[in-house]
Amino acid sequence: MAFIPQNIIDEVIARNSIEAVVGDYVRLERKGGQNLFGLCPFHGEKTPSFSVNTSKQFFYCFGCHAGGNVIKFIQMIENLSFPDAVAFLAKRVGIELQLDDAPEARKKQAEYKQMQACLLDAARFFYHSYKSPQGRTAENYMQVKRRLSPAILTSFGIGYAPDSWDALTSNLLKTYPEKILLDLGLTRKSSKGTYYDFFRDRVIFPVFDHLGRLRAFGGRIMGQGEAKYINSPDSRIYNKGKYLYALNFARKDSRDFLILTEGYMDTIALHEAGFTNAVAGLGTALTSSQARLLSQYTRQVILAYDADGAGRNAALKALDLLSREQVDCRVLVMPNGQDPDEFIHANGKERFQGLLNQALPALDYRIYLSRQAASTDLGSLDILAYQEAITDLLAQESSPVVRELYADKLAREISVSPASILQVIDKKRVKEASSMPSPSFNPETNLQRVDFEFDQASLTYLNALIEDNSLISKPELQAAPQDFPSGMQEVMVKALALAEEGKLTMPEFLGLLDQAGAGENLSRSILPYFSRLTKSKLRAREDYALEALRLLRLDRLNEQREAAIQEIERADDLASQQAALNRLNDLNLALSKLRNEVQHDQ
Ligand code: CTP
Ligand code: MN
Repeated sequence: MAFIPQNIIDEVIARNSIEAVVGDYVRLERKGGQNLFGLCPFHGEKTPSFSVNTSKQFFYCFGCHAGGNVIKFIQMIENLSFPDAVAFLAKRVGIELQLDDAPEARKKQAEYKQMQACLLDAARFFYHSYKSPQGRTAENYMQVKRRLSPAILTSFGIGYAPDSWDALTSNLLKTYPEKILLDLGLTRKSSKGTYYDFFRDRVIFPVFDHLGRLRAFGGRIMGQGEAKYINSPDSRIYNKGKYLYALNFARKDSRDFLILTEGYMDTIALHEAGFTNAVAGLGTALTSSQARLLSQYTRQVILAYDADGAGRNAALKALDLLSREQVDCRVLVMPNGQDPDEFIHANGKERFQGLLNQALPALDYRIYLSRQAASTDLGSLDILAYQEAITDLLAQESSPVVRELYADKLAREISVSPASILQVIDKKRVKEASSMPSPSFNPETNLQRVDFEFDQASLTYLNALIEDNSLISKPELQAAPQDFPSGMQEVMVKALALAEEGKLTMPEFLGLLDQAGAGENLSRSILPYFSRLTKSKLRAREDYALEALRLLRLDRLNEQREAAIQEIERADDLASQQAALNRLNDLNLALSKLRNEVQHDQ
C-alpha cells in the first residue's frame, strides 16, 4: 500500500478510540481512574493484567508487556502491517482512504478494480473446469499422484486450465476488453493476430496476496516435461518479488514463526500436514521486499528449502536478507535431494516436526556447511580446512560472547585449546579491520539504527529491571550507563534514574525511546522480545539481571580490548604502542577475572 499521509493517520487514530477498538476483542472493566482492565489477548491468563489507558489512548499488558496505541493493537491482534492496520481502522469508521485524488489516479483505480474482477472470473473458470469431467486428469494428478485431500485443494482454490487454445479467452472476452486479458497475461496474441490462452492443460494455483486478494496464477503440467511451471507475468497488479504464496492463510498462525519453502506444492503439503504457517516464494529467489514482508508478520523464519545445491545457495542468500530485517532465521536440514513435500509424504508429519525442532541458527548452518565442505565423501574431516573456514566465519561475528561460545565448541570438536582458536580469530579480525578504509556505514541500512543497537543482554537486564525496579538498589546488580553499548547510553542514563525512583515502566521506557527519536520500528522490534522473556520464567529475575550485566561488561571490555589491539597495530611510535600494550594487559586481566566470576557461579 502506498504512503499514508500523517494527517490521515491522525484522523484514523482520533476516530478510533482505543477503548472501543479493544472492546471489540476484549471485555474491559473499569477499575477506577483512567484505566480499564481485561484479560490480555496476547498471552494466556486468568486474572486481568491487560490495561487500557483512555486518557493517553494506549494499551499495556503488565503480564506480557505488549503495549502501544490503537494501530499497534490492530497490528498485533489482526497480524497486519502498519499501513494495513491503518486501512483496517479507516474502514472501521468509514474513512475513505483516498490516497490520491487526481483524475488520473481514479482512472487507474477503476482499471485496477476491473483487472481484479477479471482475475476472479478466471479463477472461477479454472475452478469449474477442475470440477467438471474435463478436469478428471488434473483431479487425479493432485489427489492420487500428489496425495492431497479435496478439502485442502479447495481451500487453496486449485483449478484446471483446459486443454484448449482459447476456452478461457473466449469466455472472458464476453465481459472484459482484450487489453485487460493481455495485460494480465491470461491471453497471448499469435503472430497471425489470433488470441490464445497462456495456461493450457495445467493445474492452476491461484496466488493471493497477504490480505487474500487474488493477484496471479501459477500453472503446472501434470507429470514430467518441460516448463514444469509457468506463472502470470508481472503486471500493474502483480510483482512476483513482492508477494509470498499462502501468506494470507499463514499470517494468522505466524506469531511464533513462519516456514518458508521454495514452491507451491511444498507449501500446500505442509498446510495439509497441519503446518499452517508455511509460505513460499513465487518462482524467484527471496527478495528484500519479501524479507520485509515476512518481518512484518513474524520474528522468526525457518527455511525449508530443497536439500540440493540450489537450495543451499538460496538459503544462504535468504539468511542475509532476513538478518537485515532483524528476523531470526533458522535452516531446516533435510536428507539430500528431498524437498518438504517428498519428506512429509515419505516420513510423516512427526518426523517433519522433528526437523523443525532441530533447525539450525544461521551461524550453525554455515558451520554445518563448512563441515560438509571439509569432509570427504567417506566422512573423514580435514581439520585444518575446517578450522580455517570456521575461524573465518567467527572473525566476522560482531558479538564477542558469540565468538567465544563457538570458539569453545570448535576447540572441543578438534581437540585444541579455546585460547588458540580465539587467537586465530583475533588475528583475522585485526587484519580485516586494518584492511577496511575506516568504519564507514552504509547509510541506508545503518544510519537510523546504529544509535539504538539493542543487544540481547541489554534487553534482558532492562526486562528484569522493569519487572522489579528495586533490583537497582542491590550493589551487585547496579548497572551504570557505560555498561551498555555506546548508542544506548544516553537513554540508559534516564532509564536508570527512573528506576532509582521506582518509576521505570514499559510505557515510560518506550517514551524515553520516542523522545530520543528511536521510532516505531525499534519499539516494535523490542516489545515482542520483552514478552518472550516474561513467558519463559526459567530463572529468577535477579539471576537474569546478574548474568546480563556480566555479559554487558564482558562485551564492553572486549570492545575496549579490540580498540587496544587496533591501536597497537596502528601506533607509529614506541611510547604509544607501549601504552596501548599496557592497557591491553589490564583489560585481559579484567576480562579473565570477570570470566572466572561467570564460570564460578555456574
Ligand atoms: N518454478 C517456476 N518455474 C519452473 C520451475 C519452478 O516458476 N519452471 C517455481 C514454482 O513457483 C515452484 C518453485 O519454483 O513452486 C519450486 O520449483 P521446484 O523445486 O522445481 O518444484 P517443486 O516445488 O518440487 O514442485 P513439484 O513438487 O510439483 O515438482
Ligand atoms: Mn517437489
